[in-house]
Amino acid sequence: MDFEFKSLSLDQAASAKVDALVLALPDQLETVQTGSAGSHLLQWVHKVLKAGDLEAGAGKLIATHMGSQCVATRLVLVRVGDGSATAMRKGMLAAFGALRQPGVNKVVLYTDLVKPQEGALRASLVAAAEATYAYTTTLSKPKARSLHKLTLVAADTPAARQEWTQGKALVQGIELAKEWANRPANHATPSMLADAAEKLGKRDNVKVDVLGPKEVAKLGMGAFMAVAQGSAEPLRFIVIRYSGAPHSQPPVVLVGKGITFDTGGISIKPAPEMDEMKYDMGGAASVLGALQTIAELQPAVNVVGIIPSCENMPDGRAVKPGDVVTSMSGQTIEILNTDAEGRLILCDALTYAARLKPDCVIDVATLTGACVIALGHVRSGLFSQQDSLAAALSAAGEKALDPCWRMPLDDEYGEGLKSSFADMANVAGRAGGSISAAKFLQKFTAELNWAHLDIAGTAWKSGAAKGATGRPVGLLVQFVLDRASAPAPAAEPRKASRRKAG
Ligand code: BES
Ligand code: MN
Ligand code: ZN
Repeated sequence: MDFEFKSLSLDQAASAKVDALVLALPDQLETVQTGSAGSHLLQWVHKVLKAGDLEAGAGKLIATHMGSQCVATRLVLVRVGDGSATAMRKGMLAAFGALRQPGVNKVVLYTDLVKPQEGALRASLVAAAEATYAYTTTLSKPKARSLHKLTLVAADTPAARQEWTQGKALVQGIELAKEWANRPANHATPSMLADAAEKLGKRDNVKVDVLGPKEVAKLGMGAFMAVAQGSAEPLRFIVIRYSGAPHSQPPVVLVGKGITFDTGGISIKPAPEMDEMKYDMGGAASVLGALQTIAELQPAVNVVGIIPSCENMPDGRAVKPGDVVTSMSGQTIEILNTDAEGRLILCDALTYAARLKPDCVIDVATLTGACVIALGHVRSGLFSQQDSLAAALSAAGEKALDPCWRMPLDDEYGEGLKSSFADMANVAGRAGGSISAAKFLQKFTAELNWAHLDIAGTAWKSGAAKGATGRPVGLLVQFVLDRASAPAPAAEPRKASRRKAG
């Protein structure tokens, strides 16, 4: 999809030869300030509003065909509330949802009757793309997205241009994440994910390394290898480095769970909805997507994406309940449930991440069904012992309209992870399952400025509009951009001891 930025009067926008014109209208039209007060189109809009035919409320709309008032075939009048990012998003989801039909290829979005608040233009582009997205890869006669060109009309300010640039780049990253999370597992194997990452390596300042089973064995990643050993697909350990700042600057490290299919292994899952476990690499997909957007925007910060990727399968060679493995950290783990595999591949990736002397490490994972029960599909679970990191991630989530919610990490939640046969077990009881999973990961993050995002509920939509959401690409990108524009906050005590040299 192409994006264009233009500064036009309403009359000029109305004479654009496009398939549709979307007019964003604030709830209070009195606040409209425009030079086009004499325009026929605006007079017509006032008439419609006066007749009471377009209720207030973001997302309320009228979609119609046009006669003489404008050149575009279709016109959509859509309410965007107070012009906040949330309201504009709601409006654009509705407007572009109504335009999701064959023949609507070029659309002009006119935002000058509103005073878009901070983030609203960016949110509009992201929402327009979301409403028109179509997955096509494995369909023989795909109904491809018809929207090809979106022209954003807004007042030409540096802030508006920046939102347009960011929005455009975000759409690329979000759609890359959706593509990989949507793909069936036989079209998204660990090797294919690695190939996708290697494509990113062609971008400026991006380098990609892919490790296979031999290298991973050499590193001593016994937990990761245990998960992979039941699958015919070889594991991949993917490292993507984006260098936007001098080498001496510690990187932000993003770790994404890349289970390309989770059957549960020997602790096999029930059949209903097992197909959805193809999105168990949603964390990996969001790390790929975030790096795609970052490579496009080239912020002044170093970022490393780490993706441990394999399948979790039952097999004659598969790891068995009760098996004890040695992780890269040297800690031993009793695998009581082979379906708690995400934490096993992540713990070795976290140990690897610590070697990079990072500024912070954020892992992103479709880790627990318990997180879906706790927070539903609205907010991702955020776990961190570091208040400043948690605050930065929460703020990034709000700003990007990709919100998360902080969960507790009291030590009592980790008590169920005790084992008689190893340093720890990989599962505790059912109660507080998303927290005990985080407590498990925490055992591999001593000395790290670490946070964990459980995206089991937010990376995927079930039901009729089933599919990947591209979350939390928005949150991750916002966090990284904020990190680039503001120096990392003063180190907290745990971190300070480690960074004497830095
Ligand atoms: N990939 C699943 C978690 C999941 C569940 C993601 C539902 C998305 C939707 C994870 O590997 C898993 O199976 N977790 C278990 C952990 C349990 C065995 C302690 C779970 O949540 O049931
Ligand atoms: Mn599992
Ligand atoms: Zn899983």
